[in-house]
Amino acid sequence: MELTTKEIEYIIKLALKLKKKSEPLLKKKVLAMIFQKPSTRTRMSFEVAMLEMGGHAVNLTMNDLQLSRGETVEDTARTLSVYADVIGARVYDHNDIVKIANAANVPVINMLSDIYHPCQVLGDLLTIKELKKELKGLKLTWIGDGNNVCNSLIAGCAMMGINVTVACPNGYQPYREAVDFAKEKAVQNKCIFEITSDPKQAVKNADIVYTDAFVSMGNETEKNARLEAFLPGYQVNKELMKLSKHNAIFMHCLPAKRGVEVTDDVIDGKQSVVWQEAENRLHAQKALLCLMLVENIKDL
Ligand code: CP
Ligand code: NVA
Repeated sequence: MELTTKEIEYIIKLALKLKKKSEPLLKKKVLAMIFQKPSTRTRMSFEVAMLEMGGHAVNLTMNDLQLSRGETVEDTARTLSVYADVIGARVYDHNDIVKIANAANVPVINMLSDIYHPCQVLGDLLTIKELKKELKGLKLTWIGDGNNVCNSLIAGCAMMGINVTVACPNGYQPYREAVDFAKEKAVQNKCIFEITSDPKQAVKNADIVYTDAFVSMGNETEKNARLEAFLPGYQVNKELMKLSKHNAIFMHCLPAKRGVEVTDDVIDGKQSVVWQEAENRLHAQKALLCLMLVENIKDL
């Protein structure tokens, strides 16, 4: 299912409520999670979300699945649908998520693909809401690689009326489909969406400065070329943060390569909200799971 602006607003509202007091709304529900790539936060937050809401999550890595011996993703999805109420998958190729969603008989959650990372953005919007109260009219600056997190973030921010400036080197712009979507939503919601290659200009007046790894999972063979393209200009350090608003927050989805895309003094500094971001994955995903699995949830 694709989330609408109203559903994202609802998820934030419900997540704030569940953060104060968790409810066992998912009794006996089962989440099957396929992980083709490693994960710390996503796996833990979904497992704990299911546990705290009375359900159960089953973690399946490639070693656990017949997928690694050639069973198709479609047959895997059909099989998991027989046992589970919802399927989550972290994949290398975004097409695998599409195939799973088309073949499954239960709802499917993208737990990160090479193109998108929507669950990250739900937690991030919750964090921004907690810290800045009103989302509309804020300015978020993305510094670095126009990657999966960036693609989902520009879409999510434009849907919520947050102004977005992306600063990235040529060749590392966000995905075309995400850019077109963000531009369309920005027009509808009367906010700005722009892409530049000048990080110093981009962070001016920013309420939020966001970065992520320059070498994402799956990009390892491009490491040298990438580091050359991003360093030193696209590193978020004290000097760059000084150009943003005095009360700007620093965000990073984690895991971070300290000393590469961000310096220790920034990620460990007063403006950093990365641990709150990590925690909010749990609360936002609880709300997402409820929206998907609990009948009449909006009436509760
Ligand atoms: N931010 C995030 O998705 O982290 P993991 O890769 O540890 O799940
Ligand atoms: N862009 C990173 C995000 C990790 C959560 C990656 O895909 O590796």
